[in-house]
Amino acid sequence: MSTNWEHIDKCAKEWIKEAGERIHQAFRKTLTIETKSSRSDLVTNVDKEVEQFFIERIRQTFPSHRVLGEEGFGDCISALDGIVWIIDPIDGTMNFIHQRRNFAISIGIFADGIGMLGYVYDVVHDELYYAQKGKGAFLNDQPLPVLQPVSIPEAIICLNASWIIENKQVDPKQLARLVQEVRGTRSYGSAALEMAYIAAGRLDAYLTMRLSPWDFAGGLVIIKEVGGLVTNIDGEPLDLLGPSSVFVSKPGLHREILQQYIRK
Ligand code: IPD
Ligand code: CA
Ligand code: CA
Ligand code: CA
Repeated sequence: MSTNWEHIDKCAKEWIKEAGERIHQAFRKTLTIETKSSRSDLVTNVDKEVEQFFIERIRQTFPSHRVLGEEGFGDCISALDGIVWIIDPIDGTMNFIHQRRNFAISIGIFADGIGMLGYVYDVVHDELYYAQKGKGAFLNDQPLPVLQPVSIPEAIICLNASWIIENKQVDPKQLARLVQEVRGTRSYGSAALEMAYIAAGRLDAYLTMRLSPWDFAGGLVIIKEVGGLVTNIDGEPLDLLGPSSVFVSKPGLHREILQQYIRK
């Protein structure tokens, strides 16, 4: 039986908008905030409720689909066979708590490990970035053009300051040189939005040393549809079942940055 991707896409979009409404309503109430692994690793009642909301809807409508969610209410996934939804109910929880902006709902839907549908929803700005494999990427209903190459001196790259201080993954001196040689740097604190911004042409590259599949699953599908590249810092495809470094960029720039600033 063939999969009706249009139907899955329609449901995903409806549920994302409904989840966005719930997040808006939650702004009127007091948040319950907890820490997970450290004082910067936060979770709220809203992260948990939004993940549970998606899982309920998916299980009712598509009982054979499985879900990998950041907050752990989904399935225990050790292989990517069949249809798997990879969900980050709120990407940028620290921003959600402290800034009430710069966060997004992120969802990637995969069939036997291949990205078929991707969504990043900036709830506060009501901007839905989405893509379906082979059908292009969109911001709300506007098609996003294919990304064009850009040179290092004209590029705006997104990276967190913690990667240009001493760390185990990458040479901070090389990255500091990259920071000096590009036109500008930015850091928004939501990997999903940072990937969506590259897809929309607002940023040229994004580099980080550790993300989980739910952080990048939605963005990955969107970026590929506009001709961007997504790998780890060794230039290999991302692991959808575990943490990895992530390097997203426009074509051309990807090879140049990997070869001249990242490879040790
Ligand atoms: C975080 C954001 C952030 C990234 C962290 C992620 P969360 O996701 O994407 O930009 O630097 O590594 O954990 O926890 O807010 O969903
Ligand atoms: Ca988190
Ligand atoms: Ca996240
Ligand atoms: Ca999250």
